[in-house]
Amino acid sequence: MKRAELLIAGISQLVTMDPERGAGPLGVVPEGAVAFRGGRVIYLGPTAGCPDAERVIDGAGRVGLPGLVDCHTHSLFAGSRAEEFGQRLAGASYSEILERGGGILSTVTATRAASSERLSSLLRARLSGFLAGGVTTVEVKTGYALRADHELRCLAVMAAPDMPAAVVPTFLGAHAVPVERRDDRAAYVREVIEVMIPAAVERFGAGLGIDVYCDRGAFTLAETRAILTAGLDAGMVGHLHAEQVSHTGAAELAAELGCASAEHLERIDAAGIDALARGGTVGVMLPGARLFLRDTAPPARTMLDAGVTLAVATDFNPGSSPVRDLWTCATLACLDFGLTMEEALQGITRSAGLALARPDLGWLGPDSAADFALMRTPPGEPARYQSLLQYLGGHRADLVVRGGAIVLESPEIQ
Ligand code: NIG
Ligand code: FE
Repeated sequence: MKRAELLIAGISQLVTMDPERGAGPLGVVPEGAVAFRGGRVIYLGPTAGCPDAERVIDGAGRVGLPGLVDCHTHSLFAGSRAEEFGQRLAGASYSEILERGGGILSTVTATRAASSERLSSLLRARLSGFLAGGVTTVEVKTGYALRADHELRCLAVMAAPDMPAAVVPTFLGAHAVPVERRDDRAAYVREVIEVMIPAAVERFGAGLGIDVYCDRGAFTLAETRAILTAGLDAGMVGHLHAEQVSHTGAAELAAELGCASAEHLERIDAAGIDALARGGTVGVMLPGARLFLRDTAPPARTMLDAGVTLAVATDFNPGSSPVRDLWTCATLACLDFGLTMEEALQGITRSAGLALARPDLGWLGPDSAADFALMRTPPGEPARYQSLLQYLGGHRADLVVRGGAIVLESPEIQ
């Protein structure tokens, strides 16, 4: 076997997320090792039998996992909405605040006013926080600019080559109708379709995601169909904010059009569940938004039993889900949505990769991304993934590898 560039050996519990490569549905290897060379995983298995390496790191007392994937965030924004939190605590609803021009629209005002340098440094700081928890890939949506030039500016900020975590960008120009376009919303929808989507694809490539917020106070099902169809026809990867505040039939639309994922789904019905299962569209569970909007939980167990693949994400944003800790969301998905620990871990790794149409993400093997996190469990807890899920969030990585190279290393690593 070729000498590795980097070897992490003696990992107390290595979770490969590939049942072919270890015990149980998560593919667990005790005393495991993973080796990297040329941006690839070249060895995965027991420490006994691992290759030599230029650099060897001792993984004792820690859990090794594929780099986690947060497949739904709104991490690029400026401004603060702490007052809105107060209004909601006092009884105002999320959609009432949006209809009054607050909520998403107040973040739009602040984001438009911020310089590109400011937006870039905010995004960088937030991504560093994700990385510290072992998250190596973060989907980031636009949607706080809602003007062609500003939406493209946000995509350009995300495309900077040296971000702390890998950004998967999604165009969400149809997040809300901007206040100044409310008198002629049809013209805004046309502009999204005829100007913004073609310009975004031309500058940033067809691999870009497309998302629409289909809901009361946002876009109708007919508008959503038109926008999504334009994006998919341009080759974009489809997502949909569906069935969150009101039931619209958006889940069925997402499945019908072949979207990679449908998100939220608090108000999905039996027909929607059946459509997602048959269409292979991943359902994305967002327990942070459920918690902060004090909403009902989506019927996650029913979806799983019907054969829907479920991912779990933070939905990190300054309004409905000011939660940037993916581990916290995985635990909330267990407590609030009824997932098992194994289903939750699947939801923040492999299934999250599928929600982004990135089957290389969220597992470890010869054909996976070379992204890896070595996690510490809380003091006194054994090094096993169950401890990371039982304790509510705040878990820190001692080592993070992206594309086969170390991008985070704590002083405890030798
Ligand atoms: O996923 N519901 C629509 N969009 C976001 C919220 C964005 C915001 O409140 O700023 C969501 O919950
Ligand atoms: Fe969202």
